[in-house]
Amino acid sequence: MSEVHINHVYKRFGDVTAVDDLSLLFKAGEFVSVLGPSGCGKTTLLRMLAGLETPSAGEISIGDKVVNDLPPGSRDIAMVFQTYALYPHMTVRGNIEYPLKKRRTPKAERAVKVKDAAELLQLEELLDRKPRQLSGGQQQRVALGRALVRDPAVFLLDEPLSNLDAKLRAHMRAELIQLHERIGKTMVYVTHDQLEAMTMSHRIAVLRFGVLQQFASPDEVYRKPANEFVAGFIGTPSMNFIAGEIDNSDGKLTFCGGGVALSVQAGLLPDGLIADGDKFLVKMGFRPEDIFIGDQGDDALVSVVEPTGHEVIVLIDLNGNEVVARVNPDVRLKAGDKVKLRFRPDKLHFFGTKEGIRLNV
Ligand SMILES: Nc1ncnc2c1ncn2[C@@H]1O[C@H](COP(=O)(O)OP(=O)(O)OP(=O)(O)O)[C@@H](O)[C@H]1O
Ligand SMILES: [Mg+2]
Repeated sequence: MSEVHINHVYKRFGDVTAVDDLSLLFKAGEFVSVLGPSGCGKTTLLRMLAGLETPSAGEISIGDKVVNDLPPGSRDIAMVFQTYALYPHMTVRGNIEYPLKKRRTPKAERAVKVKDAAELLQLEELLDRKPRQLSGGQQQRVALGRALVRDPAVFLLDEPLSNLDAKLRAHMRAELIQLHERIGKTMVYVTHDQLEAMTMSHRIAVLRFGVLQQFASPDEVYRKPANEFVAGFIGTPSMNFIAGEIDNSDGKLTFCGGGVALSVQAGLLPDGLIADGDKFLVKMGFRPEDIFIGDQGDDALVSVVEPTGHEVIVLIDLNGNEVVARVNPDVRLKAGDKVKLRFRPDKLHFFGTKEGIRLNV
């Protein structure tokens, strides 16, 4: 179990800056997800931690050792790749045992370690099969087993579930959480799937264009997204945004935009953000679950109704702005219905228009 310290790390490929002045501290035993859209530098970061890529600048420490100049084999890490790259001609046992053989671990010790890993990952019945005789989820477990027997201080996992179907992914998510609870090792999990990051991690590092946007617990990134990008990236369906302005008249803040005027609850924005008599351009954000359709509020028109079984996603036209709402399936709605919308006053998010920085307290 080791902490991982990333200190002002950069990685440039020609004129592309894949990782841009990144500083992060992963605690020993923590499960951290690195989350962001395709191309934001996730794999590059993981490969630098693994020693497969050298930082252009900055320092990486694992435990109390700076590892910048250490080769992968001396870093006490194990990496699981998106394509699990099992050896097709070897059995499950052979695949799991392989890193130990390479290390010249004595045979008896190898057997114990393979047995322990197989037990932990429920692969005991499958040890004599070849990879092609396994399901995707089983192959994934073998890849994990191969990492596990090395007993590293830090596990690096690069989108390990992306080749699996939705049901198996959900199952493997739960298995990974349990595995982490049992072994308690530091795990760095790269994904572009916010659901994976939200369900499994202690903390999530959100990246965009190689730049850290926020590093916080799933609850915090959801409730207090640091900027408009994080707000829009986390949560499905995404947060709604309406551009407008907030004015301050006698200490009362009002948001006007999208054809609506809402009074902003006291305490939501920092005191003194907007001087009395002033206006401030903002984007207002609200999640699909934080608006209500009922007989009070602003006039709107239902444009699309998407039932999913346990809830209904409704697209609503609010004075020309498309708003997504998540409603109970018992509320019967159809396209063309005239409705009224109400916003949950304590769940409004405000972002500055320049960098999209969160303005809320
Ligand atoms: N070896 C390389 N040479 C040149 N550019 C590279 C190299 N590796 C990565 N890049 C670039 O660096 C950026 C980050 O790539 P990276 O693979 O880290 O993204 P990612 O977040 O893992 O994306 P994905 O979700 O698609 O896997 C991209 O713009 C990519 O094109
Ligand atoms: Mg990648």
